[in-house]
Amino acid sequence: MKNEWITFFDHYAPFYLQEAFTRNTLQEVEFILEEFGLPAGSHILDVGCGVGRHAVELARHGLRVTGIDISEGMLSEGRRRAAQEDVSVEWVQADASDFHLPELADAAICLCEGAFGLLGSGDDPYQHELRILSCIHAAIKPQARFILTTLNGMAKIRAASEEQVSQGVFDPMAIMETFSMEYETPEGKRSIALKERGFVPSELRLMLQVAGFTVEHLYGGTAGAWHRGPVQLDEMEIMAIARKAEGDQPSP
Ligand SMILES: C[S@@+](CC[C@H](N)C(=O)[O-])C[C@H]1O[C@@H](n2cnc3c(N)ncnc32)[C@H](O)[C@@H]1O
Repeated sequence: MKNEWITFFDHYAPFYLQEAFTRNTLQEVEFILEEFGLPAGSHILDVGCGVGRHAVELARHGLRVTGIDISEGMLSEGRRRAAQEDVSVEWVQADASDFHLPELADAAICLCEGAFGLLGSGDDPYQHELRILSCIHAAIKPQARFILTTLNGMAKIRAASEEQVSQGVFDPMAIMETFSMEYETPEGKRSIALKERGFVPSELRLMLQVAGFTVEHLYGGTAGAWHRGPVQLDEMEIMAIARKAEGDQPSP
């Protein structure tokens, strides 16, 4: 299935770490380590790992990390950074909505729109995200915990105008925005349409439950400002902390 986000992230990769929202990576990693409380050597899965800003730090803290991403551009930045920092991360190029790993991990993260909420032009806005959650559920051990941060649908709705709805830029039914990006190629300028979804807390809770998780917390989770407290209406991202309970099976 065509996924325009690959083109976007392949172009964005060299500049990604210049973004202000990446500056709190160390605090985010502290939060993850504290939340999971895993012994050194435990295996953590980073879905939509990008340039590995969390993956590389987690590996530095003695965890075994597998980073999955669809963009070769982002992964090669990750490989370069891991080599520079002299840490080992297993990098896997795969679609988060369709992957299988040979070994179950002890925990998983999927942060800052790491695939979840980023749709290719042909993706169904509900099934695509459920498939990502089901793949993560299948890839971790019973009782393993999972941290997800994704776009806050309440903020998207509050920021949207009727004009954007009538122009087809904002779809209020799926809480989905469509915008275009131009990029240069040797053959000239090209343009792609990108789709991203937001999620309201009740929907996120239900989706995680359908995929076989028990939701422990829903917090505010805006990159750079994670906090253990209720989601604010206008903040950019939501955090879910969930657990794969023993015997839990995803719903059909
Ligand atoms: C905004 S970045 C977040 C990266 C990282 N988690 C972080 O916090 O910096 C989103 C990442 O998700 C990846 N991605 C988007 N769709 C994906 C998919 N279907 N499967 C796997 N990775 C995907 C992109 O390539 C990109 O690296």
